Amino acid sequence: MVKKGQESMSPSSNLLLLTIFILAFLSIAFGEQSCSEDFIRLIHKRNITNCKTLRTQGAEFAWNYHYNGTNSTILDILFGARINSNEGWIAWGVNPGERAEMIGTKAIIGIKHSDGSMIVNTYDITIETKHGCKLLPSSIGLEVTKKSMENDAVSELYTISARVVLPKEYNITRLNHVWQLGHAIGDGNQPLKHPTTLHNVDSTETINLSSSIGTSTGQYRSYLRSRNP
Ligand SMILES: *[C@@H]1O[C@H](CO)[C@@H](O)[C@H](O)[C@H]1NC(C)=O
Ligand SMILES: *[C@@H]1O[C@H](CO)[C@@H](O)[C@H](O)[C@H]1NC(C)=O
Ligand SMILES: *[C@@H]1O[C@H](CO)[C@@H](O)[C@H](O)[C@H]1NC(C)=O
Ligand SMILES: *[C@@H]1O[C@H](CO)[C@@H](O)[C@H](O)[C@H]1NC(C)=O
Ligand SMILES: *[C@@H]1O[C@H](CO)[C@@H](O)[C@H](O)[C@H]1NC(C)=O
Repeated sequence: MVKKGQESMSPSSNLLLLTIFILAFLSIAFGEQSCSEDFIRLIHKRNITNCKTLRTQGAEFAWNYHYNGTNSTILDILFGARINSNEGWIAWGVNPGERAEMIGTKAIIGIKHSDGSMIVNTYDITIETKHGCKLLPSSIGLEVTKKSMENDAVSELYTISARVVLPKEYNITRLNHVWQLGHAIGDGNQPLKHPTTLHNVDSTETINLSSSIGTSTGQYRSYLRSRNP
């Protein structure tokens, strides 16, 4: 009797599991968000065509890329988010490592000072950064040109844009990218960690830039959380 009962349970629990897997797959495959009208207006001004809303921090990301005959990819990006404070920073970067994670990220960070001035620099995010070393502007081993930061008066979106030359160890069909924002600046254009964003290192994903909606192919949530209790 008991055995029979278990047998009749198992097909329906399998069906439930299957349904969950299908729903999870669908949300991964089709859950990519399109961008806000404000951000779309900004990307059109720059002739950028691909865009997606990122999962966290109200951030949006747009890109175009082309090859120029070498093994490098020329990537033009626009990253936007809101800075709801007197001073603050927005950051976007790529990680050449195996995973989409903060440490190892080659970042482009735009800083808004309290006097309204803005500056964009490149930063290498290392294990030392995580352990509290100053994060100061430095070269990142990538050619980054056309860096700029803007504040759109209509939408109050802050954006950073740049052209990055990615050598072949970066595969644009599974590019590890990372983004973050914060509300405090230290001496020498240091983006300071905000207490709430310190643990919020989930702002990463592996993205397929050859898909126009930037399909996410991974997030490594548990990996990041296990290192950041
Ligand atoms: C966008 O493309 C148009 C037409 O090709 C060109 O005139 C314009 O200068 C481009 N704008 C930028 C920001 O590249
Ligand atoms: C490709 O782009 C890189 C970086 O901008 C540049 O150094 C190189 O000369 C370009 N190659 C060609 C063939 O245009
Ligand atoms: C591109 O990479 C291939 C394979 O590594 C290499 O044989 C080729 O010389 C490279 N081409 C250029 C222009 O660097
Ligand atoms: C990039 O990744 C895709 C999918 O894993 C792979 O098929 C492709 O060969 C890779 N391209 C390069 C240049 O490594
Ligand atoms: C990336 O997207 C393109 C276009 O949608 C697709 O053909 C390709 O298989 C995707 N690659 C990976 C690694 O997901």
